[in-house]
Amino acid sequence: MADSTLIKLKSLQEFEEVAIQKLPERGLGFAVTYITFGDKRTRREMQKAFNRYWLQPNVLTARQPFPSTWTTLLGQPIRIPICIAPTADQAVVAPPDGDILTAQAAAELGTLMIYSSVSNLRIDEFGSKVPPNGLHWAQTYLFKDKRNTLHIVRNAEKYGFKAIVVTADSPVDYISSSGRGEEVDEQIVPSEMTITISPNVAYLKGKARESRKYSDHELWNPSDGTAYFEAFCAPTWEDLAWLKGQTKLPIVLKGILTAKAAKLAVKAGVDAIIVSCHGGRQLPGVQPPLFALPEVLEAVKGSKIEVYLDGEIRFGSDVVKALALGARAVFIGRPVLWGLAVKRKEGVKRVLQILEDEFKTVLTMCGCSSLQDVDSSLVKLKSLF
Ligand code: FNR
Repeated sequence: MADSTLIKLKSLQEFEEVAIQKLPERGLGFAVTYITFGDKRTRREMQKAFNRYWLQPNVLTARQPFPSTWTTLLGQPIRIPICIAPTADQAVVAPPDGDILTAQAAAELGTLMIYSSVSNLRIDEFGSKVPPNGLHWAQTYLFKDKRNTLHIVRNAEKYGFKAIVVTADSPVDYISSSGRGEEVDEQIVPSEMTITISPNVAYLKGKARESRKYSDHELWNPSDGTAYFEAFCAPTWEDLAWLKGQTKLPIVLKGILTAKAAKLAVKAGVDAIIVSCHGGRQLPGVQPPLFALPEVLEAVKGSKIEVYLDGEIRFGSDVVKALALGARAVFIGRPVLWGLAVKRKEGVKRVLQILEDEFKTVLTMCGCSSLQDVDSSLVKLKSLF
């Protein structure tokens, strides 16, 4: 695709449409199922949550162009408060090492990328190949075999990652536990693709696991269950305390949706929280993260915990609403994968640029002349009646 075509894509929705068209053309139709997966009703509720808030603009107070969107996350500077959420298996969308392309795009635009522990690229390979000026956090599950978790933590320390993100919303795999498998049309599973799945999981069921490439239908239903047996093991706050004792890196807890859990997070001494429901891919029927945000912020009041948000952020106005309600930054998941699918690194950069441009335009339209001007007076909750 010529760069001019890329420039013609003006919204994240257009990226999604083009990706859905392109991936099957490349024999990667199953990637569409993989990315899109998530409880439809939960995803719709997340979108509706953004619509439930109206923007309340100030007038005659803006400056043009918008002066600066620099901020910090856990003391590290980022140019825009729009960051990249961890997503597994990016090589499926952009073989052979999509994560590196994502890291390059993030570094070039001055933002943060969270690396997924279930990447197709081992953390040390990722760490040694990413741009040195990039900002990375390493996501991990509290794996059943602690050696897997320690592998992530030690390499995160060694390769200069600035925080460990612990995903807390996945005690089991909703997909397999509920019997609601992702229905993949056999015809759209590629016949020649081979990929390394979860190479960070070196221990499975207590034994060393061979790292090998998976092919054909195994990609979808690996015979050894790969990482999932290790990740979905119902870990506890004690496991989190264990992890905290293992590293000096800040800990970010991902997947918090209630005041009760946020208070326990404060007690556990975490440094930040991502209010998230895993993009609707785990527990269905949960409160949309945007609605959970105020109660989480209230629960952590008085602590130094930073609070971020993800889930269905698709417009600049969504970012403004999340920040107005108190999120320090937002994260995007699927749009990055659509960007990778459309034009690899350049696609991811364009996705981020679209969101950044919309974000700045909305801020200006709201009469803001700095991020400090973004507060709750900018939003009003629509009454249901
Ligand atoms: C995810 N997400 C996720 N989260 C996590 O903590 N570890 C992971 O490995 C993954 N993997 C993953 C794969 C895919 C394909 C998707 C779409 C999502 C969840 C992700 O970090 C984030 O919470 C959501 O994607 C945010 O919602 P949006 O932006 O996709 O709507």
